[in-house]
Amino acid sequence: MPPKRIAIIGANGQLGSDLVSEFGKRGHDIVPLNHERMDIGDAEAVRRVLSETRPDIILNTAAMHNVEACEADPVAAFRVNALGVRHLALAAADLDAVLAHYSTDYVFDGAKQAPYAETDAPRPLNAYGNSKLAGEYFVRSLAPRHFVLRVGAIYGHAPCRAKGGRNFVTTMLALGRERPFLRVVDDEIVSPTPTAAIAGQSVALCQTEHYGLYHMAARGRCSWHAFAASIFDLAGIKTDLQVAAPGEFPAKVPRPAYSALENAGLARIGLDLMPDWRDGLKQFLDGRS
Ligand SMILES: NC(=O)c1ccc[n+]([C@@H]2O[C@H](COP(=O)([O-])OP(=O)(O)OC[C@H]3O[C@@H](n4cnc5c(N)ncnc54)[C@H](OP(=O)(O)O)[C@@H]3O)[C@@H](O)[C@H]2O)c1
Repeated sequence: MPPKRIAIIGANGQLGSDLVSEFGKRGHDIVPLNHERMDIGDAEAVRRVLSETRPDIILNTAAMHNVEACEADPVAAFRVNALGVRHLALAAADLDAVLAHYSTDYVFDGAKQAPYAETDAPRPLNAYGNSKLAGEYFVRSLAPRHFVLRVGAIYGHAPCRAKGGRNFVTTMLALGRERPFLRVVDDEIVSPTPTAAIAGQSVALCQTEHYGLYHMAARGRCSWHAFAASIFDLAGIKTDLQVAAPGEFPAKVPRPAYSALENAGLARIGLDLMPDWRDGLKQFLDGRS
């Protein structure tokens, strides 16, 4: 793809940092947009900053995604995750820019108990999932050239800003080194995905005109307990990992018990570059991604 001007919203976030690096490596003109420069919930700011910047592609990672905070204040969640995304979609349409917007596995309720494809009907269980789903619909109806990219259980080297700077991998590494034993749930199934893989896959997809809705997850699935076991195994950590008893860590907000994703859309266009979740973890721990 010839060099493009690429606005990356949430550029200092966990996923945003890898997008800056992956798109930057290909010689694109990167415009990193952090929260201080542009609040996506502010329609006027979005119009002004994006019309000054005139990007060819807008990548949006910005979200209010602390699930408990969204449940406590759904108005704030919808302001960012739904209306904020609407402002971006309108600006993208005005500027004739491509909008790639990151969404979530939490649009599903988990009842399927098998990996979710793009054709499965969403049914969010909480305010966060509902607000993100509303954002998806705005993108799909308002931005003619769009990618809606659902990701889940993500981890990267840059701190996850909405979750106190940690992700599951960095939390397990810290706890596993500190504690003689740990208890982790095995009744929630996910597709743990490194943000570097999402960034590489996003570069490949944005080179095409295969616009639409895509799942972008590492292949395969596991429980959080199995994921923790692999982290400890690969990192050589000897803590005694136990299965948490049902109800031991009661969730304050309902969450899907199963939210593994299948990259059916990427497979259909012959462009599924995502690693198996174990390989992705290995690369992350080796510092190769
Ligand atoms: N983390 C996960 O496990 C997970 C799972 C599924 C889907 N996702 C989705 O993946 C995306 C990226 O997640 P992440 O882990 O990279 O998040 P992150 O590290 O918390 O980064 C989010 C970025 O968005 C910015 N932001 C928040 N509200 C904003 C607003 N109103 N206007 C402009 N910028 C704003 C944040 O800036 P400040 O910190 O300065 O506010 C931060 O730079 C999100 O859309 C999320 O919904 C994440």
